[in-house]
Amino acid sequence: MTSFQSPSGTKDWLYPESEHMAYLVESFKSHVELANYGLILSPMFEDLGVFVRGVGDVSELVTKEMYEFVDKGGRKLALRPEGTASVMRAFLQHNPPVPFKAWYVAPSFRYERPQAGRYRQHHQVGLEAIGTDDPGLDLEIISILFDWLTSLGLGNLSLKLNCLGDTNCRPAYLELLYSYLEKNQKFLCKEHMERWSVNPLRVLDCKKPECVAIKEDAPKINKHLCPDCKLHFETLLAALDTAEIPYLLDDYLVRGLDYYMRTTFEVASLSLESAQNAVGGGGRYDNLALALGGNNTPGIGFASGLERVLLACEKEGVVFPLDYGPSVFVIDLIGGHKAGELTMTFRRAGVACDRSFDNRSLKSQLRQADKSRAKLALIVGEREKQNNSLQLKWLDANMRERFSAFLADFLDSYVVSESDDLSTMKSYSGKSYSGENKDYTEQYQISNTLPTDMAIRAIKEFFK
Ligand code: HAM
Repeated sequence: MTSFQSPSGTKDWLYPESEHMAYLVESFKSHVELANYGLILSPMFEDLGVFVRGVGDVSELVTKEMYEFVDKGGRKLALRPEGTASVMRAFLQHNPPVPFKAWYVAPSFRYERPQAGRYRQHHQVGLEAIGTDDPGLDLEIISILFDWLTSLGLGNLSLKLNCLGDTNCRPAYLELLYSYLEKNQKFLCKEHMERWSVNPLRVLDCKKPECVAIKEDAPKINKHLCPDCKLHFETLLAALDTAEIPYLLDDYLVRGLDYYMRTTFEVASLSLESAQNAVGGGGRYDNLALALGGNNTPGIGFASGLERVLLACEKEGVVFPLDYGPSVFVIDLIGGHKAGELTMTFRRAGVACDRSFDNRSLKSQLRQADKSRAKLALIVGEREKQNNSLQLKWLDANMRERFSAFLADFLDSYVVSESDDLSTMKSYSGKSYSGENKDYTEQYQISNTLPTDMAIRAIKEFFK
């Protein structure tokens, strides 16, 4: 026992619960590899300037939520609050061929008020595709997020979409919004009454009833898009229709990061509390490269919070096909090296195997084997040592059945290769043989004890 606890807003993921996270990462990896995205690993901390890109950035993430620190060399650094800026920094630093298509899995750190589905350290999987503003790439990114979430078994999803314009059309729109909010500032919620002029777009995102009422009549960006942005967005919408991906247009979707331009999107799980129901979101950041001091290079991506995805899966009763735990657990009642040797033999053959230590009783070792979720316990006791055999105790009834069927066939080849005689086979497999040509009638009870060599080979092959 210790008086230390994990810091507020963080969570320890212990086995086997952590298997759910591992499953999500594995499924994400397989999914994005289908579209030729490669893994990028970048540092958990960056130069503060990677995230605080000049005085214009007034997002809450930058002004309120960053974990900033000065290292022993006096450098100003920040724990990464999100992955996009780090990936763009790495892209500009290394100049890989475009389109640069990368996926990541990484913790993100945000000093937010902890609550269900909102952590100070959460884990994101994400994609970034840098080097083209082709709307075909917007379709690729959005469809990967939507299809991955659907492939997990989630059904109660809503994809929201907006276009935020670009450096041509957004400034004029912002002026319109500014004057509208200026006229109506006294009706806004308390926070926005003070802050509306710092970041007018964020008022559109506010869920407080006062702001909701005011934003209804506010000018909408989609009515003020320039022809290029309009065409870009309409091309994307047509492509989403063709791909049969359902979406809702949402004039108020501005998202919490200042780098977004043109396409923005978010997928919400309607099974979660609305304040924390975004299971993924992203958009275009065609100006981010410039803001980081690089050449103008467009990009688009998304990130999805694994904790939220898991919550949504729990709410919807989605069960992952998890098969964790070792195949074999070696139980050793005679001490010595037998358990160690057997364990090593199986592991070297690629069969997951565990054992107990400390010379515990049979009962305690069996309990441990059970807890480990092993399918088969292999018992080595005094009698087995004398007979050079192993006792098999199947902890998974279904596996026992499958092994019986397997062993009957295995023994055919084993007997031939080991030039054993047919009567031995009969006693182990439960097959009844007649004649030299190995005609047999099927199955009675299969033996629980097998000669050591035969057992090892059969088990290796069975779990291969
Ligand atoms: P974001 O919307 O800030 O976007 O975060 C992405 C996802 O991370 C959210 O949809 C949510 O599932 C999860 N998330 C965010 N904050 C928390 C939290 N405090 N606790 C638990 N989960 C959380 C970004 O981070 C952008 N970098 C996405 C992007 C990639 N845009 C372009 N490329």
